[in-house]
Amino acid sequence: MADGSVPRGRVPWNNLHRSCCAFPRAVRRRRTRHDRVVTGPPYVPVDGRPWHLSMGLHRLDPDRWLEVDGQRESDLRRKARLLDEAHDTVVATLPGSERASAELLRLVVGYLSTHHAALLGGDWQGPGPVGTVIDATAGHAVVTASLLVQEDLCVLEHDDGTWRLTAACVCFPSRWSLTEKLGQSLDGIHGPVPGFNAALLGPATTFFDRLTVDRPVWRANWTLLETDELHLPTASGRLAGWSEGDLGSSLWFRVERQTLRRLPLSGAVVFTIRTYVRPLRDVADTSPGFALALRDTMRTVTPDVAAYKGWVGLLEPLDRWLATWSHDD
Ligand code: HEM
Repeated sequence: MADGSVPRGRVPWNNLHRSCCAFPRAVRRRRTRHDRVVTGPPYVPVDGRPWHLSMGLHRLDPDRWLEVDGQRESDLRRKARLLDEAHDTVVATLPGSERASAELLRLVVGYLSTHHAALLGGDWQGPGPVGTVIDATAGHAVVTASLLVQEDLCVLEHDDGTWRLTAACVCFPSRWSLTEKLGQSLDGIHGPVPGFNAALLGPATTFFDRLTVDRPVWRANWTLLETDELHLPTASGRLAGWSEGDLGSSLWFRVERQTLRRLPLSGAVVFTIRTYVRPLRDVADTSPGFALALRDTMRTVTPDVAAYKGWVGLLEPLDRWLATWSHDD
């Protein structure tokens, strides 16, 4: 890494929630030769089935809402730096979003004080790298909340029959621009995702309408990128040219663990995104069946998806690289 810090790709081995997420029943029932989907950290949500968009929602244990691991201090330092240097890129809020965000902040503080009290400290007055005291009343509450956790935080509120993004602090977006999404509906937010509106807009909207306070959920998104950089705030720059090279070290497996929950007072929906990045080789080395499953899935990727994901030119070399691993599975 150019700045000499620990590469982001390192797995959070000391993750406090290693065994946290129960294996969902839906996955258990469907066990096949690609049955080794990993649904706890480090997440490996690849099952070898043909590429498709899915809601992929799992019931979330509220006691495992947010994940804390050994990267916390460096993640929070990075967030603080981004807020300082690129505030308008990582924060977007609409007037009127303060109430729901304040409710989110209370929930985050309550969660941390219940599950990770030591992180707040006895004299805690606000967020920031552990030990720093900042006035919690200053600034927008979505920022205050975001500085306490490794997750990115988004608040959606129901307005005029539509769910809209009204406040967010997103330091680690996966090639999208937060400013372009502010005020957008689910439809507008997902506009660039091939097939989303046809396949998932209806189910996602229904899900938002019906989500209850006591039934939070989580889901996972994954992708392959040529970088372990967490802060990728522009849609451009998706690579179109890949060489044979050593894809095991030049490609990064990026997983977003996302949670969705309804806030009891404001009725807003909170969407959290925790991003994990590991070198592809690391995942192939440590996850039996992964290379074969990934190869099977990647073989079904359509040109529009390849273009969206930045995988044009990658599919063939990757297929060859994965073949050298999958024979061991
Ligand atoms: C049930 C709820 C949701 C589902 C099923 C869902 C699903 C998806 C899927 C499948 C993708 C494509 C990911 C990829 O292949 O790289 C995506 C992208 C994305 N989602 Fe969602 N999502 C949901 C909720 C949300 C919410 C609440 C937000 C709020 C910010 C959001 C923001 C995004 C963004 C920004 C992208 C990238 C779009 C782009 O490239 O410009 N999603 N989502």
